[in-house]
Amino acid sequence: MRIVKCNDYDKMSQCAANIIASQMILKPDSVLGLATGSSPVGTYKCLIDMYNNEDITFKEITSINLDEYVGLGSENDQSYKYFMMQHLFNHVDMNEKNINVPNGLEKDTAFECERYDSVIENAGGIDLQLLGIGHNGHIGFNEPCDTFKKNTNCVCLTQTTIDANRRFFQDEKDVPRKAYTMGIGSIFGAKKILMVVSGKDKSEVVKRAFFGPITPEVPASILQLHQDFILVGDQDALCLV
Ligand code: GLP
Repeated sequence: MRIVKCNDYDKMSQCAANIIASQMILKPDSVLGLATGSSPVGTYKCLIDMYNNEDITFKEITSINLDEYVGLGSENDQSYKYFMMQHLFNHVDMNEKNINVPNGLEKDTAFECERYDSVIENAGGIDLQLLGIGHNGHIGFNEPCDTFKKNTNCVCLTQTTIDANRRFFQDEKDVPRKAYTMGIGSIFGAKKILMVVSGKDKSEVVKRAFFGPITPEVPASILQLHQDFILVGDQDALCLV
């Protein structure tokens, strides 16, 4: 595990974008595992700038997003597909065919989970996985649990996560209660894992996840065992480590 401490959110974002850009330059047809949430928004902005400067291209890139709310379609502005279009894909030369997000409207859970696992497998696995972290240590939407879930699964979100995501919805009752998420096994299978973390409110969970015991009660803690995991954070998030 490598830790890079940056002065602030902007520096963190630039650093993470540099790592992703170098992956894209070294392997133009990379498979990128991408994440939503406020943490990677700055990283996506930097990538768009690099694309506009003609430093990188997304032409041959495949993206496989971590998760999606059950019940929300891509035209819903709270869906993660919408988020990705808004914050990255609409601004770069990404081939729409190569964009993968779980289908939140698929009612057949087993079908969708198997389909998404095949997407990951058929892409040949993930070259670089970008992650944020939830306050309870979740990655993707893999919530604290008594086992590490290997494959794509449909999860009931915990109250902590519902509360954290409440800020994006008009009403608490609009916050979806379930989500499809890539499994911990698929995330861990990525060749390189890059986590961005920002803000004092994440400092406790960073300490628990990366300096505490490895346990499915703190799903991100398994990343301690990954051979190429890099944690890029701002000073506030890393103040306890
Ligand atoms: C959601 C997403 C996660 C993300 C987390 C933290 O739960 N499913 O992938 O890491 O939020 O989001 P934020 O970066 O906004 O704190």
